[in-house]
Amino acid sequence: MCYNYSVMKALVWKDIGEIELVDRPMPELCSDKDAIIKVVMSSICTSDLHIIKGFVPKASKGIVLGHEFVGEVHSVGSGVKKFVPGDRVSANCETFCGECWFCKRGFVNNCENGGWEIGCSTDGCQAEYVRVSYADSVLTKLPESVSFENALFVGDILSSGYWGAELCEIKHDDVVAIIGAGPVGLCSMLSAKMFGPSRIVAIDTDDSRLSVAKENGLADIFLNPDKCDIGDEVRKLTDGRGADSVIEAAGSSSSFQMAWEIARANAIVAVVAMYEKNQVLPLPNMYGKNLTFKTGGVDAAKCEKLVELISQNKINTDFLITHKFSLENIKEAYKLFENKDDNCLKIAITN
Ligand SMILES: NC(=O)c1ccc[n+]([C@@H]2O[C@H](COP(=O)([O-])OP(=O)(O)OC[C@H]3O[C@@H](n4cnc5c(N)ncnc54)[C@H](O)[C@@H]3O)[C@@H](O)[C@H]2O)c1
Ligand SMILES: [Zn+2]
Ligand SMILES: [Zn+2]
Repeated sequence: MCYNYSVMKALVWKDIGEIELVDRPMPELCSDKDAIIKVVMSSICTSDLHIIKGFVPKASKGIVLGHEFVGEVHSVGSGVKKFVPGDRVSANCETFCGECWFCKRGFVNNCENGGWEIGCSTDGCQAEYVRVSYADSVLTKLPESVSFENALFVGDILSSGYWGAELCEIKHDDVVAIIGAGPVGLCSMLSAKMFGPSRIVAIDTDDSRLSVAKENGLADIFLNPDKCDIGDEVRKLTDGRGADSVIEAAGSSSSFQMAWEIARANAIVAVVAMYEKNQVLPLPNMYGKNLTFKTGGVDAAKCEKLVELISQNKINTDFLITHKFSLENIKEAYKLFENKDDNCLKIAITN
């Protein structure tokens, strides 16, 4: 691609259901802690679809979409200490200062000076260049052994899957049920595996996605709610108790209900999915189950660790990239991703 250094291509969310690839001015450094990244590869996240449908209240119309990407540092502000132009990096989907009350405790999603901004309330990465605030906190350097493709999901879905698994406080003899074998659920499975549970139960209504989990050795038991009673099956595996922890990564009303129903008393239910409408917690029906619910946006504070695990071949997410498109054809890529055509899991958008 030939670059015009003052204008670039970018995918913009125009209005409900409307996106457009347009010419945009190149981003510029706005603070001494900013970096401008030349995007090498980006991806489309299910959360982008939630924005386009108007279900993300803090998303601003007119923004450049995208929050999952890898690239090369193009320029840095004078306050950026860890990065220089030319560095290969992955970027966190969350902007965080690293210094406020929440950041110091690892709750970077709640950073008093950031949160989910890139591709939501500030311009995102489905473009040729993107500005990243608090570059020293948000970027992770990639060692030579880790390719851009290897690291594409570090800052969002892999972080989310790992976070979901961490929330579950998995112990060695636990049975962990993961609802949804989409990209996030699959990342939850490969992360949960590292904590050494006795069994991982993958649950999805889509057999092709269960097959991906099976082919990649990410789970031990594969259940389709359209073909069996999930509660019965999970109780059979656990002497009638229910799952020791449940990760809900599907995002529908029925999967939300399934999550607490298949959990044993005193289990942890980690809700990683983002819903398009309110869900109901029927407390009288749950009375006595004494569940712990953990919910919300990922605290993506473990990117360095995840890159290290990738470089040690302990994690590999390459199998998630089922399709590749150039930025010019990104609208076509959105259609394929949204419809899950051709068994699409994740798309790498290359610049
Ligand atoms: N918490 C966070 O910070 C965070 C980060 C990234 C993504 N997300 C959210 O995580 C969710 C999952 O993302 P994804 O990209 O994997 O989405 P996806 O739509 O590709 O995958 C969801 C999977 O759930 C399955 N499913 C739907 N209803 C089901 C049901 N009732 N029972 C069993 N399976 C069911 C679908 O067949 C699908 O395979 C989305 O809501 C996304 O917005 C959250
Ligand atoms: Zn996302
Ligand atoms: Zn902060």
